[in-house]
Amino acid sequence: MSNTILVYATRWGATTEATKEIIRIIEDKFEIKVDLVNLKDKKTKNPEITPYENVILGVSVAKFRWANEGKRFLKNNRDKLAGKKLFVFVSSGGAGDAYKANDMEKYEKLQKRWIDYILEKYNLKYTSRKALGGRYVGSYSDRGDNRDWGVIRNWAEEVGTIISGKKS
Ligand SMILES: Cc1cc2nc3c(=O)[nH]c(=O)nc-3n(C[C@H](O)[C@H](O)[C@H](O)COP(=O)(O)O)c2cc1C
Repeated sequence: MSNTILVYATRWGATTEATKEIIRIIEDKFEIKVDLVNLKDKKTKNPEITPYENVILGVSVAKFRWANEGKRFLKNNRDKLAGKKLFVFVSSGGAGDAYKANDMEKYEKLQKRWIDYILEKYNLKYTSRKALGGRYVGSYSDRGDNRDWGVIRNWAEEVGTIISGKKS
């Protein structure tokens, strides 16, 4: 059985796409099997995480908040998560804009806002975290896709290195 699970909550799919790339790298480069769970799927909305040592959580940020399923996951699992390695990423167009503009002060502020402060509410600490960009849709679609696949891949390598205890 795998010791690593990735759970995610997307609205428009950017988080799903990042998830696939992160898993591809962890599985191919580090030979670690990752179980994948979509928190928006009714059948898997409350996964049993007890058997896993490593939990990767990916959440969509929009309308100034996390997708609800991501928060529900933290709330339901706060005690279990306290004894595990927790890796968190968000898909945030705002963070992607700041990163692209090379405004690292703003980017870091947004990482705190969209990851650190949310985990603090649940008394949880991350082992590693990253705000990825996103892809705007609908009436916001003119703002485009500001994901940086280099950032996504580097973070996946960092996570794989920590989980495996090996250098990539
Ligand atoms: C209606 C709408 C509202 C958004 N609000 C925010 C926001 O408050 N903060 C932010 O960083 N990004 C915002 N975004 C950009 C999202 O982070 C981006 O669409 C991201 O890809 C969402 O992840 P998902 O595709 O996995 O749902 C918004 C996008 C839309 C379409």
